[in-house]
Amino acid sequence: MEPEAPRAWPARDAGSRVCRALPRATQFYFAPGRVNLMGDHIDYLGGVVLPMSLRSGTILAAAPGAPGVGLRVQALDVGETADLTAADLTRPLGDWRRRLVALLSALGLAPEAVPWEVAVSGTLAGGGLSSSASFALVFARWLMHLGVVPALPPWALGVRLQRLEAEHAGVACGLMDPLAIDLGEAGAALRLDCRGQAGEAIPLNFDEAVFALVPSGVARQLADGGYNRVRGRLAEALQAEGFPPDAIPPAEAIVRRPPLRHVQSEQARVFAACEALRAGDADAFGALMNASHRSLAEDYGVSVPALDHLTATARALPGVFGARLTGAGFGGWALVLCARDGWPEVRGTLARAGFPGGVLAEPGGRPRSLALEEGRYGQDP
Ligand code: GLA
Repeated sequence: MEPEAPRAWPARDAGSRVCRALPRATQFYFAPGRVNLMGDHIDYLGGVVLPMSLRSGTILAAAPGAPGVGLRVQALDVGETADLTAADLTRPLGDWRRRLVALLSALGLAPEAVPWEVAVSGTLAGGGLSSSASFALVFARWLMHLGVVPALPPWALGVRLQRLEAEHAGVACGLMDPLAIDLGEAGAALRLDCRGQAGEAIPLNFDEAVFALVPSGVARQLADGGYNRVRGRLAEALQAEGFPPDAIPPAEAIVRRPPLRHVQSEQARVFAACEALRAGDADAFGALMNASHRSLAEDYGVSVPALDHLTATARALPGVFGARLTGAGFGGWALVLCARDGWPEVRGTLARAGFPGGVLAEPGGRPRSLALEEGRYGQDP
Protein backbone atom coordinates (compact mmCIF):
# COMPACT_ATOMS: atom_id res chain seq x y z
CA MET A 1 0.00 0.00 0.00
CA GLU A 2 1.23 3.52 -0.78
CA PRO A 3 2.30 5.43 2.30
CA GLU A 4 -0.07 8.25 3.09
CA ALA A 5 0.61 11.44 5.05
CA PRO A 6 -0.98 11.30 8.50
CA ARG A 7 -3.94 13.60 9.02
CA ALA A 8 -2.32 15.55 11.84
CA TRP A 9 0.74 16.55 9.83
CA PRO A 10 1.18 20.22 9.00
CA ALA A 11 1.55 20.99 5.27
CA ARG A 12 -0.21 17.69 4.67
CA ASP A 13 -0.47 18.10 0.87
CA ALA A 14 3.30 18.34 0.69
CA GLY A 15 3.46 15.34 3.02
CA SER A 16 1.36 13.28 0.63
CA ARG A 17 3.54 14.30 -2.32
CA VAL A 18 6.83 13.32 -0.65
CA CYS A 19 5.34 10.04 0.64
CA ARG A 20 4.28 9.11 -2.89
CA ALA A 21 7.60 10.18 -4.42
CA LEU A 22 9.75 8.22 -1.96
CA PRO A 23 7.72 5.31 -0.55
CA ARG A 24 10.78 3.77 1.12
CA ALA A 25 11.49 6.92 3.15
CA THR A 26 12.48 6.35 6.77
CA GLN A 27 12.69 9.99 7.86
CA PHE A 28 10.27 12.91 7.57
CA TYR A 29 11.11 16.46 8.51
CA PHE A 30 9.03 19.66 8.49
CA ALA A 31 9.90 23.37 8.52
CA PRO A 32 7.08 25.92 8.65
CA GLY A 33 6.75 29.06 6.58
CA ARG A 34 6.05 32.37 8.24
CA VAL A 35 3.69 35.30 7.93
CA ASN A 36 4.70 38.69 9.21
CA LEU A 37 1.88 40.22 11.28
CA MET A 38 3.55 43.62 11.62
CA GLY A 39 6.89 45.27 10.90
CA ASP A 40 7.93 44.92 7.27
CA HIS A 41 11.17 46.27 5.81
CA ILE A 42 12.69 47.09 9.17
CA ASP A 43 14.46 43.82 10.09
CA TYR A 44 17.53 44.80 8.04
CA LEU A 45 17.85 47.95 10.16
CA GLY A 46 17.86 45.87 13.35
CA GLY A 47 14.18 46.56 14.00
CA VAL A 48 11.72 44.71 16.20
CA VAL A 49 9.21 42.69 14.11
CA LEU A 50 6.17 40.52 14.83
CA PRO A 51 6.00 37.39 12.62
CA MET A 52 4.36 34.02 13.25
CA SER A 53 5.30 30.59 11.90
CA LEU A 54 2.66 28.72 9.88
CA ARG A 55 1.24 25.22 9.57
CA SER A 56 2.00 25.60 5.87
CA GLY A 57 5.62 24.80 5.14
CA THR A 58 8.11 22.42 3.56
CA ILE A 59 8.34 18.66 4.10
CA LEU A 60 11.28 16.46 3.31
CA ALA A 61 11.21 12.66 3.14
CA ALA A 62 14.53 10.82 3.17
CA ALA A 63 15.76 7.30 2.55
CA PRO A 64 19.31 5.89 2.59
CA GLY A 65 20.85 6.45 -0.87
CA ALA A 66 22.36 4.00 -3.33
CA PRO A 67 26.04 3.11 -2.73
CA GLY A 68 28.45 5.62 -4.27
CA VAL A 69 25.79 8.33 -4.69
CA GLY A 70 25.76 11.42 -2.48
CA LEU A 71 22.76 13.65 -1.86
CA ARG A 72 20.06 13.02 -4.48
CA VAL A 73 17.15 15.46 -4.27
CA GLN A 74 13.77 15.25 -5.95
CA ALA A 75 12.53 18.85 -5.88
CA LEU A 76 8.91 17.96 -6.53
CA ASP A 77 7.53 21.49 -6.86
CA VAL A 78 9.84 22.29 -9.77
CA GLY A 79 9.78 18.74 -11.18
CA GLU A 80 13.56 18.29 -11.06
CA THR A 81 15.81 15.59 -9.61
CA ALA A 82 19.51 16.16 -9.09
CA ASP A 83 22.57 14.38 -7.72
CA LEU A 84 24.18 17.38 -6.10
CA THR A 85 27.87 18.13 -6.49
CA ALA A 86 30.21 21.00 -5.67
CA ALA A 87 29.90 22.12 -9.32
CA ASP A 88 26.33 23.26 -8.57
CA LEU A 89 27.87 26.29 -6.84
CA THR A 90 28.55 27.78 -10.27
CA ARG A 91 24.88 27.74 -11.28
CA PRO A 92 23.06 31.08 -11.60
CA LEU A 93 22.03 33.05 -8.50
CA GLY A 94 18.83 31.71 -6.97
CA ASP A 95 19.03 28.21 -8.53
CA TRP A 96 17.80 25.76 -5.83
CA ARG A 97 20.76 23.40 -6.35
CA ARG A 98 23.24 26.24 -5.86
CA ARG A 99 21.47 27.39 -2.69
CA LEU A 100 21.38 23.89 -1.26
CA VAL A 101 25.02 23.08 -1.97
CA ALA A 102 26.00 26.49 -0.54
CA LEU A 103 24.00 25.67 2.60
CA LEU A 104 25.76 22.31 2.96
CA SER A 105 29.11 23.96 2.51
CA ALA A 106 28.27 26.62 5.13
CA LEU A 107 27.58 23.71 7.49
CA GLY A 108 30.92 22.10 6.55
CA LEU A 109 29.48 19.33 4.34
CA ALA A 110 30.08 18.27 0.75
CA PRO A 111 26.96 16.91 -1.05
CA GLU A 112 28.88 13.78 -2.02
CA ALA A 113 29.26 13.03 1.72
CA VAL A 114 25.50 12.94 2.42
CA PRO A 115 24.39 9.48 1.23
CA TRP A 116 20.64 10.08 1.27
CA GLU A 117 17.87 10.32 -1.28
CA VAL A 118 15.42 13.08 -0.46
CA ALA A 119 12.05 14.20 -1.82
CA VAL A 120 11.02 17.73 -0.88
CA SER A 121 7.82 19.73 -1.42
CA GLY A 122 6.08 22.72 0.12
CA THR A 123 2.75 24.47 0.51
CA LEU A 124 4.07 28.05 0.43
CA ALA A 125 3.65 28.94 -3.24
CA GLY A 126 2.52 32.43 -4.19
CA GLY A 127 5.13 34.62 -2.55
CA GLY A 128 5.67 36.29 0.80
CA LEU A 129 5.48 33.29 3.13
CA SER A 130 9.22 32.60 3.23
CA SER A 131 9.43 29.50 1.10
CA SER A 132 13.21 30.07 0.71
CA ALA A 133 13.97 30.16 4.43
CA SER A 134 11.63 27.20 5.00
CA PHE A 135 13.47 25.20 2.29
CA ALA A 136 16.86 26.02 3.82
CA LEU A 137 15.73 25.24 7.37
CA VAL A 138 14.12 21.92 6.55
CA PHE A 139 17.51 20.71 5.25
CA ALA A 140 19.65 22.40 7.91
CA ARG A 141 17.63 21.19 10.88
CA TRP A 142 17.20 17.70 9.42
CA LEU A 143 20.97 17.33 8.98
CA MET A 144 21.44 18.51 12.56
CA HIS A 145 18.77 16.07 13.73
CA LEU A 146 20.68 13.27 11.94
CA GLY A 147 23.78 14.36 13.83
CA VAL A 148 25.95 14.73 10.70
CA VAL A 149 26.60 18.38 11.60
CA PRO A 150 26.58 20.00 15.04
CA ALA A 151 23.31 21.73 15.98
CA LEU A 152 23.68 25.52 15.79
CA PRO A 153 21.63 27.85 17.99
CA PRO A 154 18.87 29.65 16.00
CA TRP A 155 20.49 33.10 15.80
CA ALA A 156 23.86 31.70 14.68
CA LEU A 157 22.12 29.62 12.00
CA GLY A 158 19.92 32.58 11.00
CA VAL A 159 22.96 34.82 10.40
CA ARG A 160 24.48 32.14 8.14
CA LEU A 161 21.25 31.72 6.20
CA GLN A 162 20.96 35.49 5.76
CA ARG A 163 24.47 35.58 4.29
CA LEU A 164 23.70 32.66 1.97
CA GLU A 165 20.57 34.38 0.67
CA ALA A 166 22.66 37.44 -0.24
CA GLU A 167 25.52 35.47 -1.80
CA HIS A 168 23.59 32.73 -3.59
CA ALA A 169 20.14 34.18 -4.26
CA GLY A 170 21.22 37.80 -4.67
CA VAL A 171 18.72 39.14 -2.11
CA ALA A 172 20.10 41.39 0.65
CA CYS A 173 17.45 40.31 3.16
CA GLY A 174 17.28 40.69 6.92
CA LEU A 175 17.16 38.17 9.75
CA MET A 176 13.43 37.87 10.24
CA ASP A 177 12.53 34.88 8.06
CA PRO A 178 14.86 32.15 9.38
CA LEU A 179 14.30 33.23 12.98
CA ALA A 180 10.50 33.46 12.65
CA ILE A 181 10.59 29.82 11.52
CA ASP A 182 13.32 28.46 13.78
CA LEU A 183 11.85 30.01 16.94
CA GLY A 184 8.20 29.44 15.98
CA GLU A 185 5.78 28.56 18.77
CA ALA A 186 2.45 26.78 18.48
CA GLY A 187 -0.37 29.18 19.42
CA ALA A 188 1.77 32.30 19.44
CA ALA A 189 3.30 35.08 17.39
CA LEU A 190 6.92 36.03 17.97
CA ARG A 191 8.32 39.42 18.94
CA LEU A 192 11.74 39.35 17.34
CA ASP A 193 14.35 41.93 18.18
CA CYS A 194 16.72 41.72 15.22
CA ARG A 195 19.41 43.88 16.83
CA GLY A 196 19.25 42.43 20.35
CA GLN A 197 18.85 38.91 18.84
CA ALA A 198 16.02 38.03 21.20
CA GLY A 199 12.67 36.38 20.57
CA GLU A 200 9.59 36.42 22.81
CA ALA A 201 6.40 34.46 22.16
CA ILE A 202 3.18 36.47 22.40
CA PRO A 203 0.12 34.19 22.52
CA LEU A 204 -2.63 34.97 20.02
CA ASN A 205 -5.06 36.45 22.47
CA PHE A 206 -8.00 37.39 20.27
CA ASP A 207 -11.13 35.60 21.46
CA GLU A 208 -13.20 36.01 18.34
CA ALA A 209 -10.76 37.12 15.64
CA VAL A 210 -8.57 35.04 13.34
CA PHE A 211 -5.75 35.80 10.94
CA ALA A 212 -6.27 34.66 7.37
CA LEU A 213 -4.13 34.73 4.24
CA VAL A 214 -5.47 35.52 0.78
CA PRO A 215 -3.38 35.21 -2.41
CA SER A 216 -3.21 38.34 -4.58
CA GLY A 217 -2.61 36.21 -7.66
CA VAL A 218 0.57 38.18 -8.43
CA ALA A 219 3.58 35.92 -7.98
CA ARG A 220 6.82 37.69 -7.31
CA GLN A 221 10.51 36.97 -7.24
CA LEU A 222 12.62 38.98 -4.81
CA ALA A 223 15.63 38.31 -6.97
CA ASP A 224 13.95 40.40 -9.70
CA GLY A 225 15.59 43.35 -8.02
CA GLY A 226 12.69 45.22 -6.38
CA TYR A 227 13.83 44.28 -2.88
CA ASN A 228 17.42 45.40 -3.33
CA ARG A 229 16.19 48.56 -5.07
CA VAL A 230 14.07 49.68 -2.10
CA ARG A 231 16.98 48.95 0.20
CA GLY A 232 19.11 51.21 -1.99
CA ARG A 233 16.54 54.02 -1.80
CA LEU A 234 16.42 53.66 1.97
CA ALA A 235 20.22 53.84 2.24
CA GLU A 236 20.24 57.07 0.19
CA ALA A 237 17.50 58.61 2.35
CA LEU A 238 19.32 57.73 5.59
CA GLN A 239 22.50 59.27 4.27
CA ALA A 240 20.81 62.38 2.90
CA GLU A 241 19.24 63.13 6.28
CA GLY A 242 22.40 62.33 8.24
CA PHE A 243 21.27 59.12 9.99
CA PRO A 244 23.46 56.02 10.51
CA PRO A 245 23.12 53.48 7.66
CA ASP A 246 22.12 50.53 9.81
CA ALA A 247 19.51 51.78 12.28
CA ILE A 248 15.94 53.07 12.32
CA PRO A 249 15.85 56.84 13.02
CA PRO A 250 14.82 57.28 16.67
CA ALA A 251 11.08 57.74 17.34
CA GLU A 252 11.55 61.41 18.29
CA ALA A 253 13.72 62.33 15.26
CA ILE A 254 12.16 64.50 12.55
CA VAL A 255 12.35 62.67 9.21
CA ARG A 256 11.31 64.05 5.83
CA ARG A 257 11.87 61.41 3.17
CA PRO A 258 9.10 58.82 2.63
CA PRO A 259 11.28 55.69 3.17
CA LEU A 260 12.35 57.08 6.55
CA ARG A 261 8.76 57.89 7.44
CA HIS A 262 7.93 54.27 6.73
CA VAL A 263 10.65 52.63 8.82
CA GLN A 264 10.14 54.99 11.74
CA SER A 265 6.34 54.67 11.82
CA GLU A 266 6.42 50.90 11.14
CA GLN A 267 8.61 50.37 14.18
CA ALA A 268 6.13 52.30 16.34
CA ARG A 269 3.31 50.16 14.91
CA VAL A 270 5.09 46.96 15.94
CA PHE A 271 5.29 48.11 19.55
CA ALA A 272 1.60 49.09 19.47
CA ALA A 273 0.67 45.80 17.78
CA CYS A 274 2.40 43.78 20.52
CA GLU A 275 0.31 45.66 23.08
CA ALA A 276 -2.90 45.13 21.07
CA LEU A 277 -2.13 41.41 20.79
CA ARG A 278 -1.48 41.05 24.53
CA ALA A 279 -4.71 42.93 25.24
CA GLY A 280 -6.69 40.87 22.69
CA ASP A 281 -7.77 44.13 21.03
CA ALA A 282 -8.60 43.18 17.43
CA ASP A 283 -9.93 46.66 16.57
CA ALA A 284 -6.62 48.27 17.51
CA PHE A 285 -4.59 45.58 15.75
CA GLY A 286 -6.67 45.91 12.58
CA ALA A 287 -6.25 49.69 12.47
CA LEU A 288 -2.47 49.22 12.74
CA MET A 289 -2.58 46.74 9.83
CA ASN A 290 -4.41 49.25 7.65
CA ALA A 291 -1.92 52.00 8.51
CA SER A 292 0.99 49.63 7.84
CA HIS A 293 -0.35 48.76 4.40
CA ARG A 294 -0.73 52.45 3.53
CA SER A 295 2.82 53.16 4.67
CA LEU A 296 4.28 50.21 2.73
CA ALA A 297 2.35 51.26 -0.39
CA GLU A 298 2.72 55.04 -0.29
CA ASP A 299 5.94 55.71 1.61
CA TYR A 300 7.93 52.57 0.79
CA GLY A 301 6.60 51.72 -2.67
CA VAL A 302 6.40 47.93 -2.31
CA SER A 303 2.73 47.29 -3.00
CA VAL A 304 1.16 46.46 -6.38
CA PRO A 305 -2.37 47.26 -7.64
CA ALA A 306 -3.66 43.72 -6.94
CA LEU A 307 -2.58 43.93 -3.27
CA ASP A 308 -4.10 47.41 -2.90
CA HIS A 309 -7.33 46.22 -4.46
CA LEU A 310 -7.48 43.01 -2.41
CA THR A 311 -6.81 44.74 0.92
CA ALA A 312 -9.25 47.60 0.17
CA THR A 313 -11.96 45.07 -0.77
CA ALA A 314 -11.35 43.08 2.42
CA ARG A 315 -11.39 46.20 4.63
CA ALA A 316 -14.83 47.19 3.36
CA LEU A 317 -16.40 43.86 4.43
CA PRO A 318 -18.32 43.38 7.67
CA GLY A 319 -16.27 41.42 10.19
CA VAL A 320 -12.87 42.55 8.86
CA PHE A 321 -10.69 44.41 11.37
CA GLY A 322 -7.81 45.15 9.02
CA ALA A 323 -5.76 44.00 6.02
CA ARG A 324 -2.20 44.47 4.83
CA LEU A 325 0.39 43.08 2.49
CA THR A 326 2.85 40.87 4.33
CA GLY A 327 6.56 40.18 3.79
CA ALA A 328 8.51 41.97 1.11
CA GLY A 329 5.52 43.01 -1.03
CA PHE A 330 5.59 43.21 -4.87
CA GLY A 331 2.77 40.61 -4.93
CA GLY A 332 2.18 37.47 -2.90
CA TRP A 333 -0.31 36.95 -0.09
CA ALA A 334 -2.24 39.51 1.94
CA LEU A 335 -3.01 39.15 5.64
CA VAL A 336 -6.55 39.78 6.90
CA LEU A 337 -7.72 39.98 10.52
CA CYS A 338 -11.32 38.85 10.57
CA ALA A 339 -14.09 37.88 13.00
CA ARG A 340 -13.97 34.10 13.42
CA ASP A 341 -17.67 33.71 12.54
CA GLY A 342 -17.34 36.05 9.57
CA TRP A 343 -14.41 34.31 7.84
CA PRO A 344 -16.39 31.86 5.63
CA GLU A 345 -18.45 34.76 4.27
CA VAL A 346 -15.39 37.03 3.81
CA ARG A 347 -13.51 34.21 2.10
CA GLY A 348 -16.42 33.65 -0.32
CA THR A 349 -16.84 37.35 -1.09
CA LEU A 350 -13.13 37.78 -1.79
CA ALA A 351 -13.20 34.72 -4.05
CA ARG A 352 -16.06 36.21 -6.05
CA ALA A 353 -14.13 39.50 -6.26
CA GLY A 354 -11.27 37.65 -8.00
CA PHE A 355 -9.22 36.52 -4.98
CA PRO A 356 -9.97 32.80 -4.40
CA GLY A 357 -7.94 30.52 -2.16
CA GLY A 358 -8.02 32.27 1.24
CA VAL A 359 -6.88 30.12 4.19
CA LEU A 360 -6.68 30.57 7.95
CA ALA A 361 -3.18 31.42 9.17
CA GLU A 362 -2.42 29.17 12.12
CA PRO A 363 0.84 29.11 14.08
CA GLY A 364 2.89 26.09 13.10
CA GLY A 365 5.58 25.69 15.73
CA ARG A 366 9.18 25.17 14.71
CA PRO A 367 11.13 22.76 12.46
CA ARG A 368 10.76 19.18 13.65
CA SER A 369 10.86 15.54 12.72
CA LEU A 370 7.50 13.96 11.84
CA ALA A 371 6.51 10.35 12.46
CA LEU A 372 4.42 8.39 9.97
CA GLU A 373 2.39 7.02 12.87
CA GLU A 374 1.67 10.53 14.17
CA GLY A 375 -2.05 11.21 14.12
CA ARG A 376 -2.64 8.53 11.49
CA TYR A 377 -6.17 8.20 12.80
CA GLY A 378 -6.46 11.80 14.04
CA GLN A 379 -9.26 14.16 13.14
CA ASP A 380 -7.22 17.22 12.24
CA PRO A 381 -8.10 17.87 8.55
C1 GLA B 1 11.65 39.49 2.96
C2 GLA B 1 13.03 39.42 3.61
C3 GLA B 1 12.96 39.76 5.10
C4 GLA B 1 12.21 41.07 5.34
C5 GLA B 1 10.89 41.08 4.57
C6 GLA B 1 10.19 42.41 4.66
O1 GLA B 1 10.84 38.48 3.48
O2 GLA B 1 13.59 38.14 3.45
O3 GLA B 1 14.26 39.81 5.65
O4 GLA B 1 13.01 42.17 5.01
O5 GLA B 1 11.06 40.75 3.21
O6 GLA B 1 9.84 42.69 5.97
